[in-house]
Amino acid sequence: MTKYVIHGGKPLFGEIDISGAKNAAVAIIPAALLVDGVCRIENLPQISDVTLLLNILQELGADVRTVNRTTVDVDCSHIRNARVPEELARKIRASYYLIGALLGRFGSAEVPPPGGCDFGGRPIDQHIKGFVAMGANVDVRGGYIHAKASNGRMMGTQIYLDIVSVGATMNIMLAAVLADGMTIIENAAKEPHIVDLANFLNSMGAEIMGAGTDVIKIRGVERLTGGTYSIIPDQIEAGTYMTAVAATGGEVLIKNVIPKHLECITAKLLEMGVDVEERDDAVLVRRTGKLTRTNVKTLPYPGFPTDMQPQIAAVLCLAEGTSVITEGVWDNRFRYVDEFRRMGAQIQVDGKIAVIEGVEKFTGARIQACDLRAGAAMVIAGLAAQGTTEIGHIHHIERGYEDIVRKLSGVGADIRVVVTPDEDKQAQVG
Ligand code: EPZ
Repeated sequence: MTKYVIHGGKPLFGEIDISGAKNAAVAIIPAALLVDGVCRIENLPQISDVTLLLNILQELGADVRTVNRTTVDVDCSHIRNARVPEELARKIRASYYLIGALLGRFGSAEVPPPGGCDFGGRPIDQHIKGFVAMGANVDVRGGYIHAKASNGRMMGTQIYLDIVSVGATMNIMLAAVLADGMTIIENAAKEPHIVDLANFLNSMGAEIMGAGTDVIKIRGVERLTGGTYSIIPDQIEAGTYMTAVAATGGEVLIKNVIPKHLECITAKLLEMGVDVEERDDAVLVRRTGKLTRTNVKTLPYPGFPTDMQPQIAAVLCLAEGTSVITEGVWDNRFRYVDEFRRMGAQIQVDGKIAVIEGVEKFTGARIQACDLRAGAAMVIAGLAAQGTTEIGHIHHIERGYEDIVRKLSGVGADIRVVVTPDEDKQAQVG
């Protein structure tokens, strides 16, 4: 078993470089399936979700060549197989993008239902609604989602999403770029990674207009050719380190970011008494005084991101007064609260609302990451805490944060990876 051991209470000082965006990468890698030629993808984060998706492409028959630490060449032109191996795909939520990409490329896809973080129900009905509107038959049998374009090729059409869904917006884009005719997605999501996927596809020859607004138009083309594309910096990774500095105090320059993408997070930190200074491609975060309470409601972009909700909660636990967090995207994203309580936090949860009474400090405890962003929030709590915090189940965190231990150590955090004998296995052997 591998865990993080953190000796908390140290302010952070220095610089952190932000990696490429996970939620862009996990759509852009499947998008390579649509490209007839070599695509070079740069600024890929080194995280387990990326490795897993590249492995899935290889299993399907793609030629994947590592160029350097953050760059790969992917050539999917020789793939003839539209059935995704079960074991790998179930480990990752974003495997659902393989449905749209394979449907676009072959007019058929066989993909196991997606895995990923557990926030209660995570339906994909809006993805399926889009595929069906474009002429596909979709059903689930034998543990697989089977999708097949009834006349062999997806057909452009107009689709109104009943819910603003990142995944459905990107999946329909993937299914539409090689479709016959124009596809129009209304009530589309507007996250930076949606624009990034559209830019990737356009750079390979697609015709996508309006990404970043709530109406996206995709004119189907016959073929995408290869090219080179660099993924945007990770908004949530940057936000996570911004909140870490807010919680511990100190001064850190967070580099290689797009400050515009961080405005929703910056605005909340300013309200809480944290200084945030925007530079061209960096933000300087400084906290010297006390933290002030505030309220946060998570919403689709440009609202406050749900993927920053646990991390901002860690900071609000240390702010003077009562703060209220309303989760506006997922049904069950407060599973970390019990672990925070073990560290001295005072939080009451009622459905999608958490009421936080600020406390003077967290105290170190043994806790377990329950999902990716909750795990990151536990790291933040541990960094700010008095005493030692041990965080287990860190594979959740490593799905989405490249080199988190090295990056935090570089700004003065006392955090180590410790490998201990697997207690469960020992118990079985014994
Ligand atoms: C993406 O998930 C991200 N994952 C999530 O980040 C993020 O929390 C979420 O978008 C919202 O920003 C990836 O990009 C891989 P949605 P996704 O479809 O696409 C409902 C992280 O920590 N809905 O925008 O699955 C759904 O239940 C991860 O990096 C339907 O009802 O999210 C939710 O309430 C965790 N039917 C809301 O819409 C559907 O068909 C938004 O979900 C689809 C979604």
